[in-house]
Amino acid sequence: MIRRSRSSGVYFAMIVPLDAILEKLHNPTGKTVQMDDENSTALPFRPAAPVINILEYSAHAGGTSLLSPLPSAKAMVPFVSVENMMHLVHHLGVETVLAELTDAIEADFRRWESFDKTPRVASHSRDGVIELMPTSDGAVYSFKYVNGHPKNIVDGLQTVTAFGLLAEVSTGYPVLLTEMTLLTALRTAATSAMAARHLAPKGARTMAMIGNGAQAEFQALAMKAVCGIDTVRLYDIDPRATEKTARNLAGSGLEVVACPSAQAAIEGAEIITTCTADKQFATILTDNMVGSGVHINAIGGDCPGKTELHRDIVLRSDVFVEYPPQTRIEGEIQQMAPDFPVTELWKVVTGAAPGRRDARQITLFDSVGFAIEDFSALRYVRDRLSGTDFYQNLDMIADPDDPRDLFGMLQRAK
Ligand SMILES: NC(=O)c1ccc[n+]([C@@H]2O[C@H](COP(=O)([O-])OP(=O)(O)OC[C@H]3O[C@@H](n4cnc5c(N)ncnc54)[C@H](O)[C@@H]3O)[C@@H](O)[C@H]2O)c1
Repeated sequence: MIRRSRSSGVYFAMIVPLDAILEKLHNPTGKTVQMDDENSTALPFRPAAPVINILEYSAHAGGTSLLSPLPSAKAMVPFVSVENMMHLVHHLGVETVLAELTDAIEADFRRWESFDKTPRVASHSRDGVIELMPTSDGAVYSFKYVNGHPKNIVDGLQTVTAFGLLAEVSTGYPVLLTEMTLLTALRTAATSAMAARHLAPKGARTMAMIGNGAQAEFQALAMKAVCGIDTVRLYDIDPRATEKTARNLAGSGLEVVACPSAQAAIEGAEIITTCTADKQFATILTDNMVGSGVHINAIGGDCPGKTELHRDIVLRSDVFVEYPPQTRIEGEIQQMAPDFPVTELWKVVTGAAPGRRDARQITLFDSVGFAIEDFSALRYVRDRLSGTDFYQNLDMIADPDDPRDLFGMLQRAK
């Protein structure tokens, strides 16, 4: 097969074995097809995309030609599909990923001041929210697209889905595009574990998990891997959610206890995680339910009008947040006065502010999810991809030979 760059019309001789194309067709994840092996003198493409491209370009050309323009290496952005993310996580081990992500996020919290920070850009509707979460450390830029639609579950859709991108600041060129639905669950759990590592009572072994939806198992496993939790007490208004979580955690090494109420779930728990989804002010925990000395990890209150805790609990707690300008709009503290005292978690991580001071204190991590956590997760994935084949190259950036001849490049595809 002959192919040319779509930019210059330069031709590359390239032998694509037919069995590779056939294998590609039978193996859409493309992990084994080698286009850039010894049979080819072409640019170092990753396997899956080029074959798809050849077929697509051929189809675009009326199915008659395999000489249609093909992208050069400069066009390609590594893409991690959901399938490849699943394989990557199992390749590394779920708990290893959670522990390593916790360290990666903590490392970035230690250099918090070097990041651009802004509250996420939210587009609210009656049914949910769609958000963009950007940040940069001056060398690398990232953003995540994420939604939150609590009613989706009724239609068999997830409450939260996401994808994200990492780019090089010096050129603006993307260096990674990835699914982030799984990655958000992992990074949210890792952030919870990082907060608990600094705030939970020493020797905590039992956690309550209220809300047993998509995030639940990730949260429990992160607390196990990072904080040494050995028992998780589950409660959800929907018993099927609790059954699902208990089933998924069987064999994890955690003792799993299904509870009939939130009150029962928090009995004896040193760490209480609330992770429910409702688009209106909810009261998952009331003040009388919460004893002294616990650490509360409140995840589900992450939008204007969406909270989980009675404000009296917030009043009794020392509250730790990610980025106050965002949390004051979205977190539990939206119920409080604009000057309600909070401590930024990064200051605890760096030692600039105290975390847990005594055994009777209630610590509350008012988690809403901040862009730096996604930045850390994206960089972690990029680092861990190296040496694996858990990605494909996507033809994402136009690559004319003469950067000003974009139109000429377009014309060559006629
Ligand atoms: N802070 C963050 O960084 C972050 C990240 C991801 C998701 N979230 C939020 O976490 C929440 C959970 O996300 P998910 O993907 O697991 O959602 P999900 O819809 O899969 O699960 C939510 C669960 O909460 C249960 N629930 C609802 N009301 C309840 C109540 N009163 N008592 C007990 N259980 C109740 C539901 O039955 C459901 O099983 C959402 O609100 C989401 O927006 C926050």
